[in-house]
This record gives sequence, structure tokens and C-alpha cells, in this order.
Amino acid sequence: MNKYTIAVLPGDGIGPEIVGEAVKVLMAVGKKHKICFETKEALVGGASIDKYGIPLTEETLKLANSSDAVLLGAVGGPKWEGLDYSIRPERALLALRKELGLFANLRPAKIYPVLADASTLKKEIIEGVDIMVIRELTGGLYFGTPKGVEKLPDGTERGVNTMIYTTPEIERIAKVAFDVARKRRKKVTSVDKANVLETTELWRRVVTKVHKDYQDVELNHMYVDNCAMQLVRNPKQFDIIVTENTFGDILSDEAAMLTGSIGMLPSASLGGKVGMYEPIHGSAPDIAGQGKANPIATVLSVAMMLRFSFNLTKEADDIEMAVEGVLNKGYRTADIHQPGKKLTGCKEMGEVVVNELG
Ligand code: IPM
Ligand code: MG
Repeated sequence: MNKYTIAVLPGDGIGPEIVGEAVKVLMAVGKKHKICFETKEALVGGASIDKYGIPLTEETLKLANSSDAVLLGAVGGPKWEGLDYSIRPERALLALRKELGLFANLRPAKIYPVLADASTLKKEIIEGVDIMVIRELTGGLYFGTPKGVEKLPDGTERGVNTMIYTTPEIERIAKVAFDVARKRRKKVTSVDKANVLETTELWRRVVTKVHKDYQDVELNHMYVDNCAMQLVRNPKQFDIIVTENTFGDILSDEAAMLTGSIGMLPSASLGGKVGMYEPIHGSAPDIAGQGKANPIATVLSVAMMLRFSFNLTKEADDIEMAVEGVLNKGYRTADIHQPGKKLTGCKEMGEVVVNELG
């Protein structure tokens, strides 16, 4: 029997609730297909700060490194916002991405037909939308140095972050984008701000060069401000969007919301030996502990784990079909609820997905 070890890092806020349901679904799929999934849980983010004083311990990092994949909930919350940047919950996430070498972040935004009305955009604009945002995850403005805030002699302060990309960093993410494109509709939009930022002028040049080996894939370039606008104007024009870390952070939230709720969108972070899977939404402290959170993004992250880390295609399809099945039956958590539908809590949503798996 195949056996996989998964590091489970629930984190903060709604993290433990949604991860709990996703693990239930994982175990149910394992049982159905006779695959052994062993989970090993550890604290991360604020939960780790509260116990150990730091957001990511050596032990947690080791656990992540030695597992077959990582499932993460969410980190952060108002409780830890006053802390120094170096030990904020978010640092755990950034350190995990960097240490595990996860430079490619895949964030699919796909519209479920039954949820087309849940979007804040008109149905005819978003029906059929199927976008994959590929966000560079270990470089750019998030990691560049110098960075920090310093006091100046005149008593004012100076804040600095640096956007850096090297040729190899751009090449490898471009290759991921073109490779993924070949399994989809073969269209890549590379997003930059090449009219203003030199770093992204380099980005555009390198992506264009890598494209020479992928002539079967269509490539176009778009400025990030225009892309933000096009996403709400005509999102159907996009297949793959590949972009810098910060631009990807922003655009993937926007793409997510096209689908009706950010609570629906999974992600896969790839590039190293161990992949990490997490919902793209945050820890939602306002609803934490109330049993209201939508676990679907995390459940779908498990499906991505099966697909990308373990090559368990059928099992991944099974989870995705089960999610679609419960949506078709009218189950809705508060974030996607509409009149006439069954208002469903976090736990109940996990249970109905498990039942749907059969
Ligand atoms: C995300 C989140 C993180 C990011 C935060 C929590 C550090 O917004 O995964 O999109 O900015 O990358
Ligand atoms: Mg984000």
C-alpha cells in the first residue's frame, strides 16, 4: 500500500477549523482508494509564537522538509500585529517558501457554474472563467535587500524594500508557466510594469527569450495596472497569468474574487523537493472559532497536493467532483450563501464532502 507523510500546519484564526475538515477529506479519499496518508501536525505562525516565541521553529521546518508534502491553513491575526517584523506570523510562511525552495505558486481561479450568481460581477462576464495565476514566490519585492525602516538624523524615517530578479529566477518561473500552459489552453500573459520598473523590463525580456522554446504557446505581455483592470473587464481573455511575487499576491486575490468568494481558492507552491498546499485566503480572525469558515479552498488544496506531489490524478479528480457535487446540492457556507440554499457550517461542509466521496 502506498504511504505518504504529510506535515499539517493549521496555523491561526480559522486555520485549525478548515485544515481539520480538509484532513477528514484526505483520510476519506485514502480509505476509498486504499492509500495510507499519515499526518504529523505542528504549530506555525501566531500559534507557534505563543508557545515558543518564534513563528517557525527548527523542528517544524525539519518536519516540513522531511515530509512528502505540507498542508498549511493560514497564519496571522490582530494579536500579533504589534510584533517586530522579524517574528511576525507571516514570516513563518515566507521562511517555509524560501527554505523549501517553492518559487512557483499556482493559484487557479475557476468559476463553478452553480456559483456564477455569487460573484459580484455580472454572470455573463464571469461564466466560463478559468484562470491560473502563476506567482513567483521566493523573489521580488518580498525578499529583496536592502529592506527595513531606519531613523534619519532629522528625526524622520526612511522605509526601503527592493524588487530584485535575476535571469535564472525569471527563466525558471517562465518555464513553469509555459509547461503548465501546454496542459491548458496554451496562452500565457506575462504581467509586469516594464514601462516604469527596470527589474520588470528584464522580466519581460527573459520571458520573451524563454518563449522561443515554446512556440506552440501564445505569449502576450501586459502591464500590471492594465491586468488589474482587464481581470474585471473581460476575465475570459486569460488562461495563465505569470507574474512577480507582489503583483501575483494582489492579482490572485482579485482573480479569486471573480469566483464569488476567496474562500474557494486553493494553491500549490512548487519548485522544491516538498510541495506546500494552502488556501489563498488568510486567517479571517473575525470569524475564527465560530464554525462558519469555508473549508473548500483547503479541501481543494488537498486535491492539488494529490495531483502535483503524489500524481494521484483520479483521487484528486474525486475530491474536486465531490466539492462540485455538494455545491450542486445547494450546500453553501456563509461567504457564498444565497437565498434558497442550505446554510452550512465548516464542519458540516467537511462532512457532506466526505459523504459525497462515497
Ligand atoms: C498570500 C498571503 C501571504 C502573502 C501573507 C500572509 C504573507 O497574502 O499567500 O497571498 O503575502 O504571500
Ligand atoms: Mg495574498
